[in-house]
Amino acid sequence: LTVRASSYADELVKTAKTIASPGRGILAMDESNATCGKRLASIGMENTEANRQAFRTLLVSVPGLGEYISGAILFEETLYQSTVEGKKMVDVLVEQNIVPGIKVDKGLVPLVGSNNESWCQGLDGLASRSAAYYQQGARFAKWRTVVSIPNGPSALAVKEAAWGLARYAAISQDNGLVPIVEPEILLDGEHNIDRTFEVAKQVWAEVFFYLAQNNVMFEGILLKPSMVTPGAECKEKATPQQVADYTLSLLRQRIPPAVPGIMFLSGGQSEVEATLNLNAMNQSPNPWHVSFSYARALQNTCLKTWSGRPENVKAAQDALLVRAKANSLAQLGKYTG
Ligand code: 13P
Repeated sequence: LTVRASSYADELVKTAKTIASPGRGILAMDESNATCGKRLASIGMENTEANRQAFRTLLVSVPGLGEYISGAILFEETLYQSTVEGKKMVDVLVEQNIVPGIKVDKGLVPLVGSNNESWCQGLDGLASRSAAYYQQGARFAKWRTVVSIPNGPSALAVKEAAWGLARYAAISQDNGLVPIVEPEILLDGEHNIDRTFEVAKQVWAEVFFYLAQNNVMFEGILLKPSMVTPGAECKEKATPQQVADYTLSLLRQRIPPAVPGIMFLSGGQSEVEATLNLNAMNQSPNPWHVSFSYARALQNTCLKTWSGRPENVKAAQDALLVRAKANSLAQLGKYTG
């Protein structure tokens, strides 16, 4: 039995290492048009292409962003879009020393036959889309599927999530894109932290089983897990120390050290909470680069500060830089508040 290695193998390892470099993490700015619309609505703006372009121009052109941010995940529209000033967004990122990435999944739909759970679409045509994204300058990809604790998770939903992630990862590597493997375990629910831990162990066991079965090269992937926390509606809250203990225990039991980087999602945590939790996880050395790939926990204050007004652009950019720098320090375990 011979398995053809990706002709991009060396490049994939290099890209993954660049993204997982000390003191840096990922800016997730890949909201679908629907989700971006919700963010814009929160500041009273219409969901037009021009407004999405204005906000994303603001994000990618923050002076000095590349010091703290190693990669930016884009939605397809942004990958092909220019800034308000007419420069390709991708070129602005590369000049900032930030690797452009692309969300390649096609979103969630109901998983018929499950307990009201969902599955993630997007494998059809993924190879040709990935090749086109590479041509356009993308060097890594993201596929987000979700697992719901209150609704199960059923064995069916977990298996489908893991299999989809593994097929996507293999296809991405074959086309030169480092796959970010993201089975988001949703925060929603009243369950305690032990329950999240059990579910996460089950999910990551299956994800790595199928990644191996699909001959995915572990040195050329990145992970985007949820931190292990109590459900959002659970009465008992967890301290950053508890979140770090549970999450690191999960990683040690399930994630091979060959994986270069673990880039957490923020999943609805507040900006400061997400920074404190990351900082707690970096108080002692880890086998992997433990960092961030936040959307809301990097963008929330920035978006509010901007509020769609040109005169607020500078202040909004400063706000993004504050969060990026705080999380950079947290990646190094040196955040002090
Ligand atoms: P949040 O950090 O807002 O959870 O978003 C990260 C992300 O990209 C979810 O897929």
